[in-house]
Amino acid sequence: MSVHKDQKRISAPDIAARKGGDPIVALTSYHAHTAAIADKYVDFLLVGDSLGMVMHGFETTLPVPLELMIMHGRAVMRGAKRSLVVVDMPFGSYEESPAHAFHNAARVIKETQCGAIKLEGGRRMGETIRFLTDRGIPVMAHIGLTPQSINVLGGFKTQGRKRDQWAEIEEDARIVAEAGAFSVVLEAIAEPLAAKITSAIPIPTIGIGASAKCDGQILVMEDMLGLSPRVPKFVREFGEVGKAIEKAISSYAMEVRTRSFPAPANTYDVKD
Ligand code: KIV
Repeated sequence: MSVHKDQKRISAPDIAARKGGDPIVALTSYHAHTAAIADKYVDFLLVGDSLGMVMHGFETTLPVPLELMIMHGRAVMRGAKRSLVVVDMPFGSYEESPAHAFHNAARVIKETQCGAIKLEGGRRMGETIRFLTDRGIPVMAHIGLTPQSINVLGGFKTQGRKRDQWAEIEEDARIVAEAGAFSVVLEAIAEPLAAKITSAIPIPTIGIGASAKCDGQILVMEDMLGLSPRVPKFVREFGEVGKAIEKAISSYAMEVRTRSFPAPANTYDVKD
């Protein structure tokens, strides 16, 4: 077996081993250049199917095809050299049967060379998670608010607000952990429930709008950069990238219109 000398990439087992340890830092990523920047600071990058809404202007994640996930997955893999890259399985690509899920997940792994896939669902996905992990595919689970089920859930709402909803969500968490998932995203789960699940299961929980007590946190990169037009209430914007883009574009447009745009000859070389 040949071994590459390149920097070692973080693996799914490395993330699993962080249970109860230093918080796991994660962001979504859809393209090579921002992946390369984030790579220095995060433990894993998720090529989330949220790219359908964030990059392609769909109203939900449901229309996203597998090919689009693969294309963005390859871009992120080209940009990120150190962090684990996890690619989301889009709606319709894994729910039908474990064998169908394996067929598509294997395509994602082969064609992107990412280190793991993510799929949505708790109890109902237990058998599929076991089938995939037994066949060499690391799976990150995703429970609570699962956006691919938006038409059943009836909206982007916090899950487990009422105590009588807790048992089902706790069971989802337990079952995906027992099935072999190496970690689980807890999306929009009421804070005390997310904290309770985190202390109850042996795999890392990755919170998004859940609890600071989760083993790690993930945000949609465009949301935390201040680039998304609308963000969920829980999102803290760490930048004002949308405003910076608008300022730069309006300055450029002004320079072109006033013919003050500098374009001397022979300057097409790339800056050092
Ligand atoms: O698709 C996505 O970006 C996600 C995160 C919100 C966890 O699943």
